Amino acid sequence: MTDKTNTMWGGRFAAGPDAIMEAINASIGFDKRLAAQDIAGSRAHAAMLAAQGILTDSDADAIREGLLTVLSEIETGTFAFSTALEDIHMNVEARLKEIVGEPAGRLHTARSRNDQVATDFRLWVRDQADVAEAGLTALMQALLAQAEAGADWVMPGFTHLQTAQPVTWGHHMMAYVEMFARDRGRFRDARARMNESPLGAAALAGTSFPIDRDATAAALGFDRPMANSLDAVSDRDFALEFLSAATISAMHLSRLAEELVIWSSAQFRFVTLSDRFSTGSSIMPQKKNPDAAELVRAKIGRILGANVGLLTVMKGLPLAYSKDMQEDKEQVFDAADNFMLALAAMTGMVGDMTANRDALKAAAASGFSTATDLADWLVRELNLPFRDAHHVTGTLVAMAEDKGCDLPDLSLADMQSVHDGITNAVFDVLGVENSVQSRTSYGGTAPEQVHAQIARWREDLG
Ligand code: ARG
Repeated sequence: MTDKTNTMWGGRFAAGPDAIMEAINASIGFDKRLAAQDIAGSRAHAAMLAAQGILTDSDADAIREGLLTVLSEIETGTFAFSTALEDIHMNVEARLKEIVGEPAGRLHTARSRNDQVATDFRLWVRDQADVAEAGLTALMQALLAQAEAGADWVMPGFTHLQTAQPVTWGHHMMAYVEMFARDRGRFRDARARMNESPLGAAALAGTSFPIDRDATAAALGFDRPMANSLDAVSDRDFALEFLSAATISAMHLSRLAEELVIWSSAQFRFVTLSDRFSTGSSIMPQKKNPDAAELVRAKIGRILGANVGLLTVMKGLPLAYSKDMQEDKEQVFDAADNFMLALAAMTGMVGDMTANRDALKAAAASGFSTATDLADWLVRELNLPFRDAHHVTGTLVAMAEDKGCDLPDLSLADMQSVHDGITNAVFDVLGVENSVQSRTSYGGTAPEQVHAQIARWREDLG
């Protein structure tokens, strides 16, 4: 072996790689993020090899100690990463060799970088699923606090972004709690499914050494070893499930962010964002911009991009491992980083924002928001078929629009000119407070329902 060839695999090579080959091949620039997982996996593997009599206890002890030294060098920033050593696995092993000598060369018995990287990456994604779950819980807590502060405050509910029916602020906030709770469930589900160990699948076919895959799985907190060695080294659906969960949740974040952008505008004034989560304009001194909300709204772009990107990398690959799969990591790292940042920014914005009760209330009453209540009254009190009641109400809305007033401002005579059965009692249902009070069906916007939703989640979230 000349010293130009790779010390890890260069036995059959007469010449070292071209610089371009080295550049396209190396993943150390990004997979150094897997260092802690890589070292945990190697330590578990070495302990198992010793327990099985494949390594001596003294070699395994030297390896396990040496790996801790490598980890501390990486954590303290004194480790010299080498592109020539391609990836985190070979960087760690080469340094281990410098520290402990000959036993380091025995660590790679009964494993391959293929099961090693699959294990490292699973451990990393599993951690991120936990981080996402905690971040979503924090956001749900911030939304719940907003719901509690204004549980009964009326505001317009929209369809097509046109005033539809009055709802309560608490109801609107709790809608997002439900969405983020499902997102949290998706991360939990993905975590449970991914929690199986690829370690011991070796290159693709398993190994002839008497390894104990249950032992390494347990040492790394996996529920069990993966059942098929080819599957273990060649699939990345655990990362895709994580990205899918992140994409759906980023979509929810984006919708809430869009509402905050609209609501914080001078035209709406439904909420005031805190200075801590706003920015100014360098030219327009009056401006306070919702940049954080806009950026959260945009993050879905790269997160969905990563999801599509990894699916595309994987879609045509024959079993088992192909180097294409090295392209899995950067996209997942970027998506995870940006998803967590978006979650934290949204949690900060929601926690800090002030809902403007008066603006919400004024908007709730405009736009004929109680027209459905009027139609329902005609059905209930005058026994009109709903279609007829709808028509009568539509005529009254047109009349109010003509007069430039709201429905409760019409006189009884105006009402009776459209339907002579209408009585003064109709005015009771035209107020927005009465409207929301009346929506008592399960899951509806009536304060009694909203308080029940809040109480259920307060119990859950503590
Ligand atoms: N750096 C590689 C990756 O990220 C590790 C696995 C390499 N395996 C191999 N057979 N070359 O996928």
